[in-house]
Amino acid sequence: MRLGVAVSGAGSNLRNLVERGFDVVAVATNRPACGAAAFARECGIPLAELPQKNYASTEERDAAMRDFFKGQGVELVVDAGYDRIHSGAFVGAFRDRIVNVHPSLLPEFGGGMDAIEQALQAGAKRTGATVHVVTADLDAGPVLIQEEVEVLDGDSPETLRARVHEAEHRILPQAIRLMEARLAKSPAVG
Ligand code: GRF
Repeated sequence: MRLGVAVSGAGSNLRNLVERGFDVVAVATNRPACGAAAFARECGIPLAELPQKNYASTEERDAAMRDFFKGQGVELVVDAGYDRIHSGAFVGAFRDRIVNVHPSLLPEFGGGMDAIEQALQAGAKRTGATVHVVTADLDAGPVLIQEEVEVLDGDSPETLRARVHEAEHRILPQAIRLMEARLAKSPAVG
């Protein structure tokens, strides 16, 4: 299945997908200087650089991302460390074909970019990672897979984040396989 990956960060999830042989045909970023974008360039994967400052609105930026992904024949969009919310039109253009990885056991610690810090501040004994289908509601679409991660005494944001990332690197590929199986039964999008 042809994957379009949206990224803003270091790119460990993108790298993991490429190393595991997933068919990443396009990468889009709102942060051209991020590690994930550099990795896409190194690999020669078609990359769309879509910084918000180049667009009058979120809708226009997302329309450009939609056109890019559609033009590359993307069948499933993977938000892998993408730090923006998609417009309703983008979600509609890829209805039930967008997944997101989030560093907590949703619905716990949803709705922000600091889920690891939130878990530590709350004194949680466990947190984890979630892959869910993206709908119009932030961090609230149907959950595909979750993996629990124990919070250890003395964990810092960095040590906990490293273990949550390991969980993400296991469950994101599994969730994409699930979506592939599911979408194989439904007609392709136009
Ligand atoms: C991950 O923790 C993901 O859950 C969150 O952003 C982080 C991205 O990491 N949405 P990377 O860029 O894939 O290394």
